[in-house]
Amino acid sequence: MSKIATLEVDGQKIELPVITGSENESAVDINKLRDLTGFITLDPGYKNSGSCTSEITFLDGELGILRYRGYSIEDLAEKASFPEVSYLLIFGELPTAQQLAQFDADIKKHTLVNEEMKNIIDGFPKTAHPMGVLSALTSALTAFNPKAVNVENEKEMYEAICKTIAKFLVIATWTYRKTMGYPLNYYDNTKGYVENFMQLMFRLPTGPYAANPIIVNALDKLFILHGDHEQNCSTSTVRMVGSSHAGLFASISAGVSALWGPLHGGANQAVLEMLEEINKDGGDTDKFMAKAKDKNDPFRLMGFGHRVYKNFDPRARIIKKAADEVLNTLGVDDPILAIAKKLEAAALVDEYFVSRKLYPNVDFYSGIIYRALGIPTDMFTVMFAIGRLPGWIAQWKEMRENKEPIGRPRQIYTGHPLREFKSNK
Ligand code: CMC
Repeated sequence: MSKIATLEVDGQKIELPVITGSENESAVDINKLRDLTGFITLDPGYKNSGSCTSEITFLDGELGILRYRGYSIEDLAEKASFPEVSYLLIFGELPTAQQLAQFDADIKKHTLVNEEMKNIIDGFPKTAHPMGVLSALTSALTAFNPKAVNVENEKEMYEAICKTIAKFLVIATWTYRKTMGYPLNYYDNTKGYVENFMQLMFRLPTGPYAANPIIVNALDKLFILHGDHEQNCSTSTVRMVGSSHAGLFASISAGVSALWGPLHGGANQAVLEMLEEINKDGGDTDKFMAKAKDKNDPFRLMGFGHRVYKNFDPRARIIKKAADEVLNTLGVDDPILAIAKKLEAAALVDEYFVSRKLYPNVDFYSGIIYRALGIPTDMFTVMFAIGRLPGWIAQWKEMRENKEPIGRPRQIYTGHPLREFKSNK
């Protein structure tokens, strides 16, 4: 029997349907609340509000579970490749070998970026942050692809997906090449997606370039771990922008901007800067723990805490292990890793952190690996964006296929009541 919630408001009693998901999470469906009572709900930060139903990612913050399309993140990180996981997220099933090869070939049809995009890049100062440039360039792609994709046409939708995956990687690396003053590289269609990331970033015209397979494998895993995370700030932004029927590039450009903030994807850069600061300051982690707990100090322990995970972030566990392995294999001895481990150990037994359920999140160790792999700090959040791209695409596609209405929250007005106009001039 389906469950019902009863709500009494202003002396009026109404019944509201309860929706149950496939993992038994429950939601009170308030769709008719305003029509029936004149009331709305108020939930800043959406801590209790579901914005949609979704078949893409399942997350249990209490148990530390993360699954894409039913597959555990642990299995995917160990056994699958990033293009395979991208296909899974976007189309719902793991690809066969033939489907994966076809997907790869179809992406490669779009790996050339219009040369005129270079004029746009030239307009940015070299000091511009790569995330700002990436958001602008992604939006600029709409100018070169003005036709809005017809989401009901499977072929058109598929082509738009392949195009987005191809071009986003190239322009993401161009943001770095620009800051370095290097010539912009082209995608090499004889190589794989992650290998291409490396050559697009680091190949110089002055000599040959071969990506280190250890680094390519580590990046592949990192991209998988960032693939999707249900209705977080940037993904909700992509869905919200897309709900007005804005195109895929425009919606993803907005997602990049949302991801940039230090409370979201920008945390990976902030973590590394924080660890460097602690190192420079003499490595006294207790001092910074005390700062993080001091309510009069705005300092927060970056890479700690999560809106949803309240016991541990499964991605952080995988990344911590990978960080140890990669640093060992590459023979990197980074004092920053020791500081990170010391901070983590201290926080795990500290009353302030334990009582607020603050644990290391995905960003805590990712910057340490990126640094060991030679990725510049300013590019860390761009790495997150490359990994998150298939998730954004999958969520955008699902939102349009489900014919979701335009996102338009309400508010409770707390400003002046009507007042008579009297000029202050
Ligand atoms: N350091 C110190 N105190 C913290 C921290 C932290 N990193 N995070 C939360 N708190 C405290 C906060 O001050 C508050 O204390 P009190 O109850 O005494 O006022 C309590 O813990 C709850 O914090 P909140 O800000 O209300 O929690 P939230 O769910 O709104 O925020 C968060 C989640 C991730 C924004 C926050 O934990 C944070 O700012 N963390 C640091 C930034 C970070 O690492 N972000 C990456 C998130 S994971 C990657 C991604 O998916 O984007």
